[in-house]
Amino acid sequence: QARKLFSYNIVLIGFMGAGKSTISDYLSTMFDMRLVEMDQEISERQEMSIPDIFATYGEEYFRNLETELLKELQTGSNCIISCGGGVALREENVVEMKKNGRVVLLTASPETIYERVKDSNDRPLLKGNNNVEFIADLMEKRREKYEAAADVVIQTDDKSIVQICEELITKL
Ligand code: S3P
Repeated sequence: QARKLFSYNIVLIGFMGAGKSTISDYLSTMFDMRLVEMDQEISERQEMSIPDIFATYGEEYFRNLETELLKELQTGSNCIISCGGGVALREENVVEMKKNGRVVLLTASPETIYERVKDSNDRPLLKGNNNVEFIADLMEKRREKYEAAADVVIQTDDKSIVQICEELITKL
């Protein structure tokens, strides 16, 4: 039986490629916590890839699925929630996260993000736009909302997974 270490959820937010999935995965193993990768969960429930959901039903539909899932998850605790990059942009989602979660924002420079996502095909927002300029522009548009939602901010450029996790635990 795993020991319950956290009475709240740890919610990871940030731009595509900020490291949310990688860090969540590591933390959940480290603390034996349940992990929910929101994109993956939505994709499994819909039996469709994220790009297919966007292409078939549109972004708004996807955003509504995110809100629904987040609400469901905040009824529990001791869970690591890895959000898609757009989740923290909706005010009602942020209210939901805060109910039972500590919100951790992972950041990185546009150059770092580009290096991490340049070979990715599963991000509809970057389709045809996968370059540093587009990333920098979208990041700037989102920055204020990300920062407003965060309880803890961790810059991830040039840090190892272990360093990031240590910093996160210290700051939580
Ligand atoms: C999105 C980020 C993606 C995914 C969808 C939209 C966004 O998740 O939810 O493509 O709006 O930033 P990742 O942040 O895991 O790439």
